[in-house]
Amino acid sequence: MKIGIFDSGVGGLIMTRAIVDTLPKYDYIYLGDTKRVPYGPRSQKEVFQFLKEGVQYLFEKECTLIIVACNTASARALRKVQQTYLPKYFPDRRVLGVIIPTAEEVSTAKRIGIIATAGTVKSGTYALEIQKLNPPAVIFQQAAPLLVEYIEKGDMKRAEKALETYLKPLIAKKIDTLILGCTHYPIVKNVARKIIGPHVRVISQDECIPQKTAEYLNRHPEIETMLSKKRHRSICLTKETKTIDVLAARWFGKKIKIEKVKI
Ligand code: DGL
Repeated sequence: MKIGIFDSGVGGLIMTRAIVDTLPKYDYIYLGDTKRVPYGPRSQKEVFQFLKEGVQYLFEKECTLIIVACNTASARALRKVQQTYLPKYFPDRRVLGVIIPTAEEVSTAKRIGIIATAGTVKSGTYALEIQKLNPPAVIFQQAAPLLVEYIEKGDMKRAEKALETYLKPLIAKKIDTLILGCTHYPIVKNVARKIIGPHVRVISQDECIPQKTAEYLNRHPEIETMLSKKRHRSICLTKETKTIDVLAARWFGKKIKIEKVKI
């Protein structure tokens, strides 16, 4: 059985690479729903339906554990998938998201800023999960709708300008911690750190989710022992895009075979 990683597109490859580097012995399948990306502006109903389809595809490909790298899907649809879909159809398999492990990282912060897609911000899930673990924290959210597009185009000049604009209101709130709440933002984490200064802790998911995944597997030997360990990796996308080879090579670190699939 394999570990599946799901994302709305190709941004999740950044986190996949970090997870694979930390836990190299397992077999992985990455599924990116490039046909329907972006999820950020979509309704909760759509994101739920798409996540359900992605999860079903990965389960059919023999994944026993799925990590939803997509913040928007984690924020808007994961709980419903865990509570309604899994118990009915796949009660012995697991789907994990990125919101709770990220919230755990900020359990002692006082003033927390979050940048994310419009859908993630609208869901309020980050604020909800952080407040459960850190009730006195003051939370400020900022939607950053243009960042994903600029990063995917490789237009770093525009991405940096947009990031500066999105961070301005959070800087004005004197935050002590910033969450980069989207698959693509690790690409701009150093720029974010430069803009926001050394006194603000910047949480980038490529730096914390791999460790959290390792801890989860340690706590759950019933899942870990089911996982095959042949170091096999594959990337499945619902639509091939012109730039995917370049992006996959840049973000995954090497040339990798990409399969187009229907979900
Ligand atoms: N994967 C999405 C996220 O992490 C960003 C791209 C999209 O809007 O689908 O929120």
